Amino acid sequence: MTTASAVEIQSRTLAGYADASRLRQVQDRDWVLDRVTGSPRTLIDLGSGIGQLLEGALERLPSLRLAVGLERSEHRIAEAAERLGRFGERVVLHRADLTAPEPLPYRAEVITQTSVLHWLYPDEERVFAWAAAHLAPGGRFLLTTYHPARDGHGLGGEDDLVRDALVELGAERTDVPGLFEQGGVLPIATRTRTADDLARTLAPHLAVAGHLEREAVVTVQGPEQYEHFHAATFGDYYSRLVPPERRAAFFRAVGASAWRRQQETGHVSRMPVRLWELTQ
Ligand SMILES: C[S@@+](CC[C@H](N)C(=O)[O-])C[C@H]1O[C@@H](n2cnc3c(N)ncnc32)[C@H](O)[C@@H]1O
Repeated sequence: MTTASAVEIQSRTLAGYADASRLRQVQDRDWVLDRVTGSPRTLIDLGSGIGQLLEGALERLPSLRLAVGLERSEHRIAEAAERLGRFGERVVLHRADLTAPEPLPYRAEVITQTSVLHWLYPDEERVFAWAAAHLAPGGRFLLTTYHPARDGHGLGGEDDLVRDALVELGAERTDVPGLFEQGGVLPIATRTRTADDLARTLAPHLAVAGHLEREAVVTVQGPEQYEHFHAATFGDYYSRLVPPERRAAFFRAVGASAWRRQQETGHVSRMPVRLWELTQ
């Protein structure tokens, strides 16, 4: 019986996201909220995490009577409830699985979803149908999607760092795509469909009113910072590829690969992010 390290415990509860998300995801929050126009009364955030976007929306938008968060992780809902307690009845948090979203008795002028869609693969179309049914007339669905480059095996972005880490732990580089497959880990760069593929997926339900693009560049102060970013963002998604007694070493190796990459290229990762403005 091995004792779990602090970073393994972090990965199970997705803890430390407030700190970790400063490296990448939190930048989507202001980018999206800057696109909100008018005086919305209801906003729904899909995959609301620890409630950072809802908090920003409630602070910025005095017209907002109701801010609704849908989220799968109980740990994250609890953290969001604490963060948003000061807004009282203006906030409602629901536990939900967005791959099979239930209808809710709300219509929102604004629906948002940031850094979540790849987790819903291959069922993204359900969330597009849900959003179309829950937008108020004239409302908009503001969505961010990430688009890392991928290789012939469908690996890219975070998968590349994990590949380096597995090689450091003794795997043959050419065996890594097979290890992903055997371990039931679908590469993130496959989950993050191309923009064209997404446009086809959403077309039966929503119209594209416009889009913006930015480059998400991640840099860190050292390997430990990336180790914690990985655990808070990806949880145990990849670490299950190694046996329990090697997981602490796996997280350390991911941090070390990220740091090595930054020293070689000036950043850990760089990828295009798209902000979609979708209407009924
Ligand atoms: C990278 S975090 C993004 C959180 C927040 N939207 C942000 O921008 O910081 C992805 C979130 O999606 C949630 N999530 C993943 N799959 C989900 C599902 N099937 N249903 C609901 N939430 C899900 C995770 O629990 C996590 O909080």
